[in-house]
Amino acid sequence: MKHIFLTGFMGTGKTTISKALREILSCDVIDMDREIERMERMSIPEIFVQKGETWFRQCETSFLEGLKKREGAIVSCGGGVPLRRENVKTMRACGIVVLLTASPETIYERVKDNHDRPLLEQNKTPEHIGELLKEREPYYREAADLEVVTDQKSADEIAIEIKKLL
Ligand code: S3P
Repeated sequence: MKHIFLTGFMGTGKTTISKALREILSCDVIDMDREIERMERMSIPEIFVQKGETWFRQCETSFLEGLKKREGAIVSCGGGVPLRRENVKTMRACGIVVLLTASPETIYERVKDNHDRPLLEQNKTPEHIGELLKEREPYYREAADLEVVTDQKSADEIAIEIKKLL
């Protein structure tokens, strides 16, 4: 089996949906953020403060590269992964890329009480989320093989939708 890369902006449900998908596809889930935190022995906010965003992005790129040698799994990507062309190349070489989307309002509701996303901590409003989303959308779309809207649906419903599309 090839990898199934779940991509999309923060709060589009990548982690939750990866677990729901695991139940119906019976394969492993790899959560990139958690793997990088384990390798670096630091939380994502700590990595951003102590080593910087560029270091974190390099960790993502190296981690993805290593996935080429691993058994097919559901990979829950960090929200910035499709922004680097080399990451997109790697994902396409060893898997299928599924883009999860949601409106800025839905994303805001999902992330507002959570404080582990450094890029949102400065200005966490639906307006700012909408601006970031607009900047990133072309990269997300360019990288994606499939796109699934996640507003107002349960993780189980979305997992079933993805399975049908695969
Ligand atoms: C980021 C998304 C986060 C995490 C980091 C940067 C981004 O992952 O990788 O905070 O640039 O969009 P989630 O999308 O899982 O929140």
